[in-house]
Amino acid sequence: AFPSRVRIVEVGPRDGLQNEAAQVPTGIRLELIDRLGEAGLRTIEAGSFVSPRWVPQMTDTADLVRRLKRRPGVAYPVLVPNEKGLDAALAAGADEIAVFAAASQAFSRKNINCSVEESLARFAPVLERALANGIRVRGYVSCVLGCPYQGDVAVADVVRVAGELTAMGCYEISLGDTIGVGTPLAARRLVDAVSASIPLQHVAVHFHDTYGQALANIFACLERGVSVVDSSIGGLGGCPYAKGATGNVATEDVVYMLQGMGVETGVSLDRLIETSLFIARALGRAPRSHLAMARTAG
Ligand code: HMG
Ligand code: MG
Repeated sequence: AFPSRVRIVEVGPRDGLQNEAAQVPTGIRLELIDRLGEAGLRTIEAGSFVSPRWVPQMTDTADLVRRLKRRPGVAYPVLVPNEKGLDAALAAGADEIAVFAAASQAFSRKNINCSVEESLARFAPVLERALANGIRVRGYVSCVLGCPYQGDVAVADVVRVAGELTAMGCYEISLGDTIGVGTPLAARRLVDAVSASIPLQHVAVHFHDTYGQALANIFACLERGVSVVDSSIGGLGGCPYAKGATGNVATEDVVYMLQGMGVETGVSLDRLIETSLFIARALGRAPRSHLAMARTAG
């Protein structure tokens, strides 16, 4: 059955902007995050504490987190790959973090320079210390429906990594179709398999729209009761370590679909579209979401 309410996890300021050729000024990132909060989003991924050599676009995340104009009831998670990242996140005053593992060995090596097992061993002390500091931890699993380096990914590998992250204390597992190759029935089968071992309320879907399947995939998972959806304003995004990956499904397109289905999101579509146009202008290009294109046509 469809959920009556969906929580949108806005990942544009991180997943979106990490993939821009040019580094976006901190002031623009802050304004983007503020506008997203104004639009009603309650989880806004703000940035990442990763190596500046690997992802230079996120270099100013510490400064950004310190300067965030926090709204009551809004969480601003940041990505953390290891204890060094956690130290920096804690020092900046981050309120929530996300660790990111993969279901594919090949992608894990390209993205974080270690095997899946090594990454999980690295996350264990990160989770332990974060939780001891009262910081909630979200867990990502990448390449859940395919890998740019190894091709097929076994459902059992996704289930195992999702289970281990949950056992370590992640409050939610976000299933990432990093390169957007999934199709609806595969996405639904995956959710069925994962939710056989962890509670469905703890499962989020994170679909990139590379092959135009993201909304259909989301619909198929909503039908199973999934109630947390990651998306990116204006469809910004991709992953610098997944060649050919394009943006996440656009937040405004997801909200439009949910509104039409009578599913509550607490988000203002008009505000979202304004925000989408704001960031497109700041990046100097036309907006890419269906909604922004439809509303600005003619
Ligand atoms: P490494 O080179 O193996 O790290 O990188 P190392 O531990 O050997 O350290 C090398 C240098 O990096 C040292 O500096 C460390 O201090 C520094 P040096 O002594 O050479 O000057 N370093 C750090 N600096 C800042 N922050 C840190 C940090 N850690 C080490 N946290 C590492 C390993 C994990 C650091 C690197 O591979 C990395 O940063 N990778 C991040 C890649 C990334 O951000 N990818 C995008 C996010 S994932 C994604 O987009 C997918 C997702 O959206 C879901 C989906 O769509 O599927 C989440
Ligand atoms: Mg992503």
